Amino acid sequence: MAFDIEMIKKVYANMTSRVDAARQIVGRPLTLTEKILYNHLWEGNPTQAFKRGVDYVDFAPDRVACQDATAQMALLQFMHAGKKTVAVPTTVHCDHLIQAKVGASSDLAVANTQSKEVFDFLSSVSNKYGIGFWKPGSGIIHQIVLENYAFPGGLMIGTDSHTVNAGGLGMLAIGVGGADAVDVMSGMSWELKFPKLIGVKLTGKLSGWTAPKDVILKVADILSVKGGTGAIVEYFGEGALSMSCTGKGTICNMGAEIGATTSTFGYDESMRRYLSATGRQDVVDAADTVASYLTADPEVYTDPATYFDQVIEINLSELEPHINGPFTPDRGTPVSQMKAEAAANGWPIKVEWGLIGSCTNSSYEDMARAASIVNQAIELGISPKAEFGINPGSEQIRYTIERDGMIATFEKMGTKVFTNACGPCIGQWDRAGADKGEKNTIVHSFNRNFSKRADGNPNTHAFVTSPEMVAALAISGRLDFNPITDTLINDKGEEVKLSAPYGDELPKKGFAVEDAGFQAPAEDGSKVQIVVSETSDRLQLLAPFDAWDGKNIMGAKLLIKAFGKCTTDHISMAGPWLRFRGHLDNISNNMLIGAENAFNQKANSVKNQITGQYDTVPAVAREYKAAGIASVVVGDHNYGEGSSREHAAMEPRFLGVKAVLVKSFARIHETNLKKQGMLGLTFANEADYDKIQEDDTINFIDLVDFAPGKPLTLEFVHSDGSKDSILANHTYNDGQIGWFVAGSALNLIAAAGKA
Ligand code: F3S
Repeated sequence: MAFDIEMIKKVYANMTSRVDAARQIVGRPLTLTEKILYNHLWEGNPTQAFKRGVDYVDFAPDRVACQDATAQMALLQFMHAGKKTVAVPTTVHCDHLIQAKVGASSDLAVANTQSKEVFDFLSSVSNKYGIGFWKPGSGIIHQIVLENYAFPGGLMIGTDSHTVNAGGLGMLAIGVGGADAVDVMSGMSWELKFPKLIGVKLTGKLSGWTAPKDVILKVADILSVKGGTGAIVEYFGEGALSMSCTGKGTICNMGAEIGATTSTFGYDESMRRYLSATGRQDVVDAADTVASYLTADPEVYTDPATYFDQVIEINLSELEPHINGPFTPDRGTPVSQMKAEAAANGWPIKVEWGLIGSCTNSSYEDMARAASIVNQAIELGISPKAEFGINPGSEQIRYTIERDGMIATFEKMGTKVFTNACGPCIGQWDRAGADKGEKNTIVHSFNRNFSKRADGNPNTHAFVTSPEMVAALAISGRLDFNPITDTLINDKGEEVKLSAPYGDELPKKGFAVEDAGFQAPAEDGSKVQIVVSETSDRLQLLAPFDAWDGKNIMGAKLLIKAFGKCTTDHISMAGPWLRFRGHLDNISNNMLIGAENAFNQKANSVKNQITGQYDTVPAVAREYKAAGIASVVVGDHNYGEGSSREHAAMEPRFLGVKAVLVKSFARIHETNLKKQGMLGLTFANEADYDKIQEDDTINFIDLVDFAPGKPLTLEFVHSDGSKDSILANHTYNDGQIGWFVAGSALNLIAAAGKA
């Protein structure tokens, strides 16, 4: 489990010279974000200043982390890279595929049966390729990364959007798609648009009922769910210094909810305390040698408006507890205004459930502060009015809070202690009665509260707040209860009042654990066998995609002309399809089923040119593939926006689609198409979209001359025999054309490994 101190020392050894060089080149003091980025350039020493929000830059991340839902396809792909081990330290965490229903031990046993083949697969691939494997029940990926691997000044990527949580330990941690993770695991660079920078100055000090969660709930309220797009948020000021490291993690975690690339804090005492308490004094010793490089230059924080693209200031001494929601995390309501807001909006006042946990808020401090409220309720003789559930963030936290009496406190209140896993946060909550679809309110300490996310019921009004507020609202049973001013009636009919929460930032007796749930990889994995059953419906070994035959593609059929918005969810839906994330053939049955056919305005209904009948998109694609006919997808603007899910590119590739021709692409999806060996093309003349007809046959008449900067000519032959010749632009460079020629980027990596 040991983190790689030698790797960390190497990062710090380079840092002083590279940051000094960058400061010279950029010609001004640097923010922390810039220092970390310039120290992780793929090319090594900085040679140029990058334009924020404009330049695409290749970086060399220090680590990769994957969770069980996304790791399946990432590892299936990595197996084709032809590598003996991963190129950078990598871990896999089993936390998403565990349902919360009865309680930890029985739920975990069920998950270990239901998802056994997935867990066994992830375990054996990890064992073979030098990847650390965290078993089901070990905890939530981001809590474990914070406890074991995050370090100040580091750069990591992870196949989960809340990878950003590790910013609490002063690193830049960024959520990516599986294809990006595979590149880095295979020893390739990782590309990112040099971000814009948002500075958040925290003045004052948290006290009473206000928690770090309220900082990010307030920031989300100010910036909205899109306000951080393309930017890294850097927190600073006396308020930042006064906060715990895990509290900083909470704030960074929910940076994903404002669309930020990531968030971070400068290295400080709270990080020293946390690193030391989690057994990493040697990281503290190493970090202290470059401490001034692990925070911004002083000028940045005294004159932030000069150095950040946007600056926000929040006075923690005046900040109220917030309750954000329902249905979106950026709708913030300070606790003092909830009575009026709830009444005005008709939100159900009765709180049915209070849930504490998720990667956002499951630290020792979170549990301790929530337990302090529960403890008071017990002492004051108040029975809770709502049901209560907790998911500890890791086995280390669960074991430690059990030792310190908190689990017993929660259980006295009738709390269900679920597995150390995501549980209700990812909709893995078998909530009794949710299928009735009744309008109701729940409060939780998670990060996302979109409709249906927790229990699948679109009428569940989910509100996000701090763990201590969740405890207070669940005990009172009312959404509009303000623990700062309101009293409660106890079981004897007496009027009582809760005091402000309290709790140690770190356990006084230190963390303890018997079995953290870690499996170290084999020293020599070459003999490890990876077994995937041929009859499995959840996992399927990948076969390399065919290389290009060097000829023009002739006689391709139009599969679909998609109209309007076509996001990665339209191309590869989530929900029930999640269970097939490791089985390309099965998950391909959701290909483009959400896209609107421009010819009949229907979803998942396209004309099969062989039969003349209408059928589902995957069925028609499969029929063309079986007949040896290539197919083409045409789309509108910003095609493939949304997530970086590589399935949205792999599925069409698997089902025989050769090219996707659109008005414009979401950039990550365009790159994903290129990586999978497909042609991602844009109309040179957007109006040509209207020339595409339902029965078109397509000829790529100059593909043999495919070259950077040279548009391709596509001939669309209509059913009446007439033709339109259309120019298609592309952004392939020589290397990317190599991916197309080889059949995929991975094929090329594998071939290079064999050479
Ligand atoms: Fe898991 Fe929810 Fe976090 S799904 S990783 S606990 S956002």
